[in-house]
Amino acid sequence: MGRTERAVRLQSRKDGNTKMSIRIMGTGSALPARQVDNRELAGMVDTSDEWIRERTGIGSRHVSTGETVVSLAVEACERALENAGRDAASVELILAATCTAERGIPCEACQVQSHLGAKQAAAFDLNAACAGFLFALHTAWAYVEAGIYDNALIVGSEVLSKLVDWTDRGTCILFGDGAGAVFVERCSEGGILGLVQHSDGAGGGVLCCDSRELQSPFVNRSMEIPRIRMDGREVFSFALRQVPAGILEALEKADLSPDEVDLYVLHQANRRIIEGIAKRLAVDISRFPVNLDRVGNMSSAAIPVLLDELNRQGILRRGMTVVLSGFGAGLSCGACVIRW
Ligand code: UT7
Repeated sequence: MGRTERAVRLQSRKDGNTKMSIRIMGTGSALPARQVDNRELAGMVDTSDEWIRERTGIGSRHVSTGETVVSLAVEACERALENAGRDAASVELILAATCTAERGIPCEACQVQSHLGAKQAAAFDLNAACAGFLFALHTAWAYVEAGIYDNALIVGSEVLSKLVDWTDRGTCILFGDGAGAVFVERCSEGGILGLVQHSDGAGGGVLCCDSRELQSPFVNRSMEIPRIRMDGREVFSFALRQVPAGILEALEKADLSPDEVDLYVLHQANRRIIEGIAKRLAVDISRFPVNLDRVGNMSSAAIPVLLDELNRQGILRRGMTVVLSGFGAGLSCGACVIRW
């Protein structure tokens, strides 16, 4: 779309034309080849397969060795575009959600843009940790609704294995690496029906990391690089408190009740958290698909990777009502209701 066309569209929005939304037209994902199961972890820290499965539901996770946050994102994006039947040249906006960008500058989204050859696209990163993909999806919606862009490629890509403390059994058992992407397009019916986003910066200390490995030899060469620190119980109770409330708020905006939702695609942090949310919403757990048993918690990649699996398995069908909800460090929490 040219600049003049864009300006005309912006003017027509100002004149009060109809509301727009975005529809997910294609999904894609990529996981590193190397898998680390609980038994292998038990050889590294004082834990067991039984404990991890019982307390989290996780059995295995993927860990990047040759792959990078960008290579995983590019692979996921290529698959999403292929799934949508679109080519990179038509992409107008690329949003990369990540909290594990390996380079400070340039941003991950620009590197992805370059690899894809998506020359027309504007590209930037967004860090809202585990809520990142959802916040990026909402950002794309806002751009489309404002008449600025017609489509967007949104990717959540993480290499958390490079940020976790592999000696801390309370955190290293949870996380995994991977990337998931969706290609969205403007639509006048369906798409996102309601969304909410909440942040609680005052609670940020319960899940944090004071470095992204950007150490300067001029400051302290021998300084140990700070790793992820987490008060697991606090994050757990934050999720059980905030996520059902956020979902109900988004459903209210969409004028729907919890039992009218076909699928709840939630951030894959812990099976017990998902079970607790289902219980609080009084919705049967069968409507809450999970893949964390195979991939662990992939932060911003969790929701789009699960969406891709469900899409490719034919479980997601056009017309279905789906709730997405992401939550985690920030503390941040978001939910949206979409008509698939
Ligand atoms: O995207 C958001 C990211 N974060 C999360 O989602 C984290 C949410 N929180 C959780 O998933 C859970 O709090 C954990 C899985 C992290 C921990 O489970 P928990 O049931 O809350 O355990 P806990 O921290 O209360 O610890 C209970 C016991 C402790 O031992 P003592 O003090 O009772 O003797 C821990 O030291 O379990 C011990 N423990 C372990 N034992 C074996 C903690 N981690 C492990 C482990 N293996 N990996």
